Amino acid sequence: MTHPAKLAPSILAADFARLGAQVLEAERAGADRIHVDVMDGHFVPNISMGPIVVKALRPVTKLPLEVHLMIEEPIRYLDAFAESGADSMLVHVENAVNLHRTVQHIKALGKKAGVVLNPATSPVAFAEILPDVDLILVMTVNPGFGGQKFIPEVLPKLTRARALIQQRAPRCELEVDGGVDVTTGPLAAAAGADVLVAGTCVFAHPGGPAEGVRALREAVRRGLTAPA
Ligand code: DX5
Ligand code: ZN
Repeated sequence: MTHPAKLAPSILAADFARLGAQVLEAERAGADRIHVDVMDGHFVPNISMGPIVVKALRPVTKLPLEVHLMIEEPIRYLDAFAESGADSMLVHVENAVNLHRTVQHIKALGKKAGVVLNPATSPVAFAEILPDVDLILVMTVNPGFGGQKFIPEVLPKLTRARALIQQRAPRCELEVDGGVDVTTGPLAAAAGADVLVAGTCVFAHPGGPAEGVRALREAVRRGLTAPA
């Protein structure tokens, strides 16, 4: 990749008492979209937020709101997230038995559709749906919690996913999520990711989210221009 990766701060790591202000800070520092992690306590062992948070953020930011659905039966909640103001909805291949129907439903709502792969899931799992989606998200942690360690063994899969996308759907974005920071972000970008989700490294940055966005952007820029 020779272009700079886009940044998608994940509000899971934000200060929820100051959520609007924190999102605005990230936006002003140049974030490209806001990542909203939705967890139901079934598909993943944690509960986070739902459409009400998307609705609250919609008037606060001009950035696209990207909803990562870590829930069972995501198809049941697509309309609610669309009505709340989500711009894109990402569903896991591991629990969407009717993945094609779910993706078509997202598109019928006029939203962008993405599919997500857990660390142990092969890129083969998205090959058939690839022409229908706008984004593939590769998890570099097991979903459920922020602040986990990046799993470097997933990097070769990112490269394989990039090759598949180039071959079959070059306009589809490749995003990476989990443990992304100033060290691992450049590795993911070099492996082919063009969007980086980052929670802790943005919102828990000691200088605040604006500093977090700048530090990550700078690290990725340096990584891309560094001699191999
Ligand atoms: C994990 C979530 C991630 C996570 C990212 O289940 O999907 O989006 O919040 O947070 P960090 O960057 O802290 O790993
Ligand atoms: Zn996420």
